[in-house]
Amino acid sequence: MSDYNYLLVERRDRIAVVTVNRPDKLNALNAATVDEIGRAFRALAADESVGGILLTGAGEKAFVAGADIAELATMGPISGVRVSRQGQDIFRAIEKSPKPVIGVVNGFALGGGLELALACHFRIASEKARFGLPEVKLGIIPGYGGTIRLPRLVGRGRALEMILTGEMIDAQEAYRIGLVNRVAPQGEALAEAERLMQKILANGPVALALALEAVDSGMNSTMDDALVLESNLFGLLAATEDMREGMQAFLEKRRAAFRGS
Ligand code: COA
Repeated sequence: MSDYNYLLVERRDRIAVVTVNRPDKLNALNAATVDEIGRAFRALAADESVGGILLTGAGEKAFVAGADIAELATMGPISGVRVSRQGQDIFRAIEKSPKPVIGVVNGFALGGGLELALACHFRIASEKARFGLPEVKLGIIPGYGGTIRLPRLVGRGRALEMILTGEMIDAQEAYRIGLVNRVAPQGEALAEAERLMQKILANGPVALALALEAVDSGMNSTMDDALVLESNLFGLLAATEDMREGMQAFLEKRRAAFRGS
């Protein structure tokens, strides 16, 4: 029996595929689903047999069409802050995952759904995917990190246009502004993401984790602090078996067999 009511978690070798699975509600995020996402990512972070994670939505139509508006409609100011903070913490944990996380956007990524995709390390879209932060149409603002992550990714002007109009953009426009890294033919985004993740997972796992840490910390600190951290992490990697193996393999003209130690 599955541990989750609203998620599917499958394994494809060292890749875990997490699918938000509420297709009758376009995978909208009710509180229970957000909680399950948090649990799933904690479990996958602790599972040493998992190297990387693909996050997607069930069905062809939606990645995630936002927070569950039926639930949001009943909130008051205090519960509103709480709901926002809980989602923010869970999405931040995804962003800080030591294992690479690719968002596979197969359809609508709206509101909290786009914010969930933004918490992934990068995104691949299907050609029919659509992206938007329509919260202002409901009289609210994005509350799961969208006002912070979108401007950092695509620039303040483009982010504000999306946040203030609430209008959607298509996959090609999302690609043009750097919101997604690649656009795959409809139905092929997951396979494309899996191929890319396999390439990533051929590399040293400790190096991947520390690269993610260097970039995340670097985005959140001064240039000088970020450079100190980068050089310390760089030095730390010289203590790993993986570094010896990676360099030895290069010199011996063979593929490295990394062990993550
Ligand atoms: N919260 C709760 N339910 C949602 C939802 C959301 N964010 N998004 C879609 N659903 C539900 C619909 O209420 C509908 O449920 P029902 O069949 O029980 O009535 C079902 O999912 C299918 O959606 P529907 O609106 O009928 O599909 P559509 O193809 O006509 O429109 C969208 C698709 C994405 C344009 C439309 O669903 C939409 O605008 N959703 C809300 C997007 C949003 O504002 N998100 C931000 C929330 S903060």
